[in-house]
Amino acid sequence: MPVQRTIFGRPLTLQMPPRRFQALGVLVIFIIVNLTFYGPPSRETLQTLPTYEEVADAVTDAVKHPHVPDLGELPAVVPNPFGPSAHKPPIQPNSTSTSAYRAIEWLSDFKWRNPFSSSISLDENRAVLPPLRERPPIYTYYDAPKKQDKKVSEAENRLILAWRRAWWAQGFKPQVLSRAEAMQHPQYQLFQRMKLGSKVELEVMRWLAWGHMGGGILANWLALPMAEYENPMLAFLRRNEYPKLSRIQSLDNAVFFGEGSSVDEAIKKVMANQLLKNVTANEDKITQLAKKEGGAVVNLLDSKDIVVDAKANGVASYTMDTITNKYQTVADKLTNTTQAEGLDLLANLVNSHLHLTFQEQHPEGVAVVKPLPEHTTALMYEATEIARNLTQCPTSPMPKSCPPNRPKCKPCDANKAMKLQEFPEFVNTTKFFTIGTVPHPYTITSLHYTRDTLDANFLRNNAKRDLWLLELTRKSIPKEHTESYRVLQFKELIAAAPIHSLWLTAERITQKDIDWVLGFDLPQIASSTNEPSSPSNSSELIIFPRPGPPEPIEGLQKPDEKWIKREEERLRRARDAIKSKDKIMRSIVDAVEQWSLADTEAWKFARAYSSRRRMERKKWEEDEQKFAGSEKKAGVRHGDGSGGRWLDGR
Ligand SMILES: *[C@@H]1O[C@H](CO)[C@@H](O)[C@H](O)[C@H]1NC(C)=O
Ligand SMILES: *[C@@H]1O[C@H](CO)[C@@H](O)[C@H](O)[C@H]1NC(C)=O
Ligand SMILES: *[C@@H]1O[C@H](CO)[C@@H](O)[C@H](O)[C@H]1NC(C)=O
Ligand SMILES: *[C@@H]1O[C@H](CO)[C@@H](O)[C@H](O)[C@H]1NC(C)=O
Ligand SMILES: *[C@@H]1O[C@H](CO)[C@@H](O)[C@H](O)[C@H]1NC(C)=O
Ligand SMILES: *[C@@H]1O[C@H](CO)[C@@H](O)[C@H](O)[C@H]1NC(C)=O
Repeated sequence: MPVQRTIFGRPLTLQMPPRRFQALGVLVIFIIVNLTFYGPPSRETLQTLPTYEEVADAVTDAVKHPHVPDLGELPAVVPNPFGPSAHKPPIQPNSTSTSAYRAIEWLSDFKWRNPFSSSISLDENRAVLPPLRERPPIYTYYDAPKKQDKKVSEAENRLILAWRRAWWAQGFKPQVLSRAEAMQHPQYQLFQRMKLGSKVELEVMRWLAWGHMGGGILANWLALPMAEYENPMLAFLRRNEYPKLSRIQSLDNAVFFGEGSSVDEAIKKVMANQLLKNVTANEDKITQLAKKEGGAVVNLLDSKDIVVDAKANGVASYTMDTITNKYQTVADKLTNTTQAEGLDLLANLVNSHLHLTFQEQHPEGVAVVKPLPEHTTALMYEATEIARNLTQCPTSPMPKSCPPNRPKCKPCDANKAMKLQEFPEFVNTTKFFTIGTVPHPYTITSLHYTRDTLDANFLRNNAKRDLWLLELTRKSIPKEHTESYRVLQFKELIAAAPIHSLWLTAERITQKDIDWVLGFDLPQIASSTNEPSSPSNSSELIIFPRPGPPEPIEGLQKPDEKWIKREEERLRRARDAIKSKDKIMRSIVDAVEQWSLADTEAWKFARAYSSRRRMERKKWEEDEQKFAGSEKKAGVRHGDGSGGRWLDGR
């Protein structure tokens, strides 16, 4: 259908000149463009210029299929004005992190899907990462009572920390609000004068604090996400667009979402409610309303003011009712004399449910990928450690219990624990959770060829290029694909959300923030026998035996202790070599990197990605350290290796 063009609303008729004039016109324009950009043509370029007939054909074609005429390759001329600019992109703030193995640097850019970062960042060392995902804020309200046992406060802070961590892992930005935010709301003074009962007041303060933050998601700090990343409810919340003020039916008043204006509107309507004109006279009625589903604020509103979302199963809410009905062992301890102990049990219960949810999402278990398995046992220590703890049954006061939102879960059974296997290559399915270790090409070359030192001669004569990546993707990516393609697929894998794989770098020894990546703590203690047991006679916790290391890959012998010791030594030497500032050593490492460009790129990308992730989180922790639920307030010191030892190590 012809397109009717208009100019200032009037139809515009384009009088097309006859075909041959069109063609001639294009040729003239073409030559002018060429002269402008490339200067007068030299003899060779003249010979490759399209003839009149070619241009005419292209134009005839273009009239039939309206798109840019294809005039064939333009003569190659240097410099090409349409090529990449020669300026380096500006260095983004906070895009560098120190490391013993030279600085880790990155550039966050939409053009990250490029096999080799340096073609975008124009910097050998700077990896190009995908832009950080926007994290929608989620708020919770916590008002610490003035007089409270320090132990109870700490236990509550640890629960809030678990709340923050679980939501963080699901891609949110969790923030803990308090009366300080509520006081900033214009309506605060008015409500303050009403002398509301404590329960009603708490609910109103929650809403005021939420209104002050401009709406978004408001959750109870005992409401945690316990579902797969793509769960429709979590995916909806992550979109950060809440057209209507809503709550979720099955969750009572645990989760609300809405825009700032609708929250403020609702607060105004509550203010105008007749019952609040004389609180003393209506005290009973207000108390009754507050007990109804949805809480005080919702019931002081008209039912049409807030939408009730009926089906949503992504969030587990541990209300007092639920705890009393379902988790008796915990409820028994939540008395006023053993409050702290009860809260600790609750924290363990919540953590075990988060861990269980993770285990159920990966029905085929955990896969440790170990390409070139003959001489890389020492390389896989950390990955194997994590894999073993991940497949262990979680420490819990009630191991047979299910999360409140999934009553039909499959509790962890130590006799049929999650599978743990080793594979020589990446198996592309999300039924596994895959853990791998990305080595520097120097490390893998030295280990694989069992060489204590490397040099240029050895590389040229004996070493294969991009050993590690080729082995890793040998089966998942067909043979005909190039290293560039493989490296790109690998980057996609690292940057994927939801994560179904975890990539450590061989040169970094500790993995501090894994609990924030997974959203829960790994078990830190295990039963010393093959049976579940308890850490002490008085403890209500049940701990499980720790699964052994995975069986060696089929066809391979378990390597001798003596050989593993050599590997460890070689690994240490490789780490030193990469760190070395010595000129000769540097040139060898450089040569290895040049030899295996794809392996080097994979290594740079993996370490920059995890470094940025760590920095994003650390910065967040710094911003939040004054507020409830920070690691500082919860008595958790990060930096001691595994972090978050508080849960069951006491
Ligand atoms: C960079 O980090 C510093 C200190 O952690 C922080 O104050 C600053 O706001 C950060 N800048 C950006 C743009 O994130
Ligand atoms: C509120 O009601 C009580 C009892 O019904 C009455 O004594 C009091 O004067 C009322 N206060 C106001 C401000 O109307
Ligand atoms: C615990 O609660 C009971 C009743 O609720 C009360 O009588 C008792 O004094 C409380 N004990 C402490 C130590 O607060
Ligand atoms: C894994 O499979 C998906 C879909 O089947 C594909 O898009 C992706 O490229 C594969 N990744 C790797 C690393 O093989
Ligand atoms: C795994 O559990 C063991 C004890 O069973 C503990 O010593 C180790 O630190 C844990 N590792 C990780 C990575 O959590
Ligand atoms: C735990 O109880 C058993 C038997 O009841 C007893 O023999 C053992 O000494 C106790 N252990 C501790 C640490 O109290």
